[in-house]
Amino acid sequence: MQTRAIYTGSFDPLTNGHMNIITRAARLYDELTVGIISNPSKVPQFPIEEREIMIAEALRCLPNVRVDHFSGLLADFVNRNGFNVVVRGLRGGSDFEYELQMAQMNARLFDERVETVFLMTDPQYSFISSSVVKEVHALGGSIDGLVPEAILQRMNEARENK
Ligand code: COA
Repeated sequence: MQTRAIYTGSFDPLTNGHMNIITRAARLYDELTVGIISNPSKVPQFPIEEREIMIAEALRCLPNVRVDHFSGLLADFVNRNGFNVVVRGLRGGSDFEYELQMAQMNARLFDERVETVFLMTDPQYSFISSSVVKEVHALGGSIDGLVPEAILQRMNEARENK
């Protein structure tokens, strides 16, 4: 059976913490889609179409990874597109409660073939979130090594054009 996995998030921006999960998941599954969600509870720095371009650029070196975007219920997107694995990253205990609730709720909504699978984030990235990276960068701090080079370039351009 072909394993078709999806890794979702707002990715505003994509960080090296996300990259770590994506690279490892790409080795585990035949095909991995990075699914960018338009999350109505967050005001993004980069519009979803721009995030899609930035992320595709950062992931160019991974041949079995593609990028897509969606809105609405994750389970609808997963069921409709025939994914059989939903990958989630766990940075630490504080992620666990939320992820457990989401996985259990999603399990009710997913087609029977779909499993949520958790990968532990590499500890060197466990303190990162998109918001903290964005805040430090906006205030002129260094985020070298925390986001892929292609993303950093776009963030620098956006800051200069402000
Ligand atoms: N490395 C670095 N940062 C990470 C990370 C990792 N491995 N894993 C998570 N993060 C960060 C994210 O960047 C994000 O940072 P931010 O809050 O500053 O933007 C934060 O941790 C939370 O990540 P996540 O839980 O993935 O939130 P998200 O907004 O990126 O994505 C969805 C949320 C898409 C997974 C979830 O809201 C969803 O599925 N929504 C669809 C609607 C739906 O189906 N709802 C019912 C669910 S039961």
